[in-house]
Amino acid sequence: MHLSIQGVCKSYPGRGLALDAFSLELSPGVLGLLGPNGAGKSTLMRILATLTRPSAGRVLWDGVDVATAPEGLRAVLGYLPQDFGVYPHLSAVEFLGYLAALKGLPPPAARRRIDELLNALNLWEARAVPLAEYSGGMRQRVGIAQALLNDPRLLIIDEPTVGLDPEERARFRTLIAELAGNRIVLLSTHIVSDVEATAERIAILHRGKLVAAATPDVLLEAVQGRVFEWVVPAEEAARLRTRLLVTSTLRRAQGVQLRVVSNAAPSPEARAVAPSLEDAYLELAAGGQAGSAA
Ligand SMILES: Nc1ncnc2c1ncn2[C@@H]1O[C@H](COP(=O)(O)OP(=O)(O)OP(=O)(O)O)[C@@H](O)[C@H]1O
Ligand SMILES: [Mg+2]
Repeated sequence: MHLSIQGVCKSYPGRGLALDAFSLELSPGVLGLLGPNGAGKSTLMRILATLTRPSAGRVLWDGVDVATAPEGLRAVLGYLPQDFGVYPHLSAVEFLGYLAALKGLPPPAARRRIDELLNALNLWEARAVPLAEYSGGMRQRVGIAQALLNDPRLLIIDEPTVGLDPEERARFRTLIAELAGNRIVLLSTHIVSDVEATAERIAILHRGKLVAAATPDVLLEAVQGRVFEWVVPAEEAARLRTRLLVTSTLRRAQGVQLRVVSNAAPSPEARAVAPSLEDAYLELAAGGQAGSAA
C-alpha cells in the first residue's frame, strides 16, 4: 500500500502553477496537509483522487501510474471533497444507500456497512431525519461516512473541519485517530490543531510548493530557540507587525504581547519561549522568511 507522488505540476489556463513539482511518498498513517488558502491543497487532492490530471509529473499507486490505469486506486479510494454537498431531502440512510449503490456495493453488504458507519459516526439516532435538518458537524460526519463506505485503503479528506465548532472539531480528531490503521489517510486543513495530535507526518504547502514534510517533532525543532515574546505599546505593535513574523498577539494591561519567530532576539526585552507547531507552520507558510531583527 503505497502512494508515490512524483514531480506533480498543475497549471490552470491564465494562472501560475497551482502545484509546482510536488513530490511525496505516502505509506499507511495519517498525513496532515497544511497550507493557507490557495496553496494548492484541493488541487493536489483532486489529482490524487484521479478527478484531475497533472500537467506534468505522475502519481503511482502500488507502482502503477494512475493516469493510464486509475482503476486500482479508485477501487480502494474514499474521498471527501471540500465542496461536498448532500441531498437535503434524503435521510442519512437513504443518502448512504444511494451512494453505496453508485459504488456498486451489493445491497446486503451495503446495509450492514451503513449500519456500522451510522453507529461509528454517532449518526444512528438521526439516521431517518432529512439531511437538511442536520448541523454542520453532522453533515461532515455523513461526508466521512460516504468516504468510508468501501472501507478504503486510501482516504482523502479535504478541509473536513471547516464550519465545525470546537467541540465537533475535538470529536473529529478522535474519529481520525480511530480511522488510522491499515490505510493511508490524507487530511487537509489550515488549522494546525486539527492535525498536530493525530498526524504522524505533516506536509506544508506554500504557493503550490512543498516546503516541508516531517513529523511534528522535527518541525518544532526547526523553530526551537527562535520564538520570542514580549510586551510593546499598541502603536509599536502595529509597526513591528510589518517587519517581523508575528505568530500571535495578546492584549495586556501594559500594551500588546507579541509572539514572533526570529533568528535573533527582536528586542532586549524579548524572551525566548517554547515553540508551538503553529509557530513552525506560520514560519514555513510564510516561506521561512523570519530574518533577524534589524
Ligand atoms: N478550476 C480552477 N480553475 C482555475 N484556477 C483554479 C482552479 N482550481 C484552483 N485554482 C487556483 O489554483 C490555486 C490553488 O487552489 P486550491 O483550491 O488547490 O487551493 P487550496 O489550498 O485548496 O485553497 P483553500 O484553502 O482555499 O481551499 C488557487 O490560486 C486557485 O485560484
Ligand atoms: Mg481547498
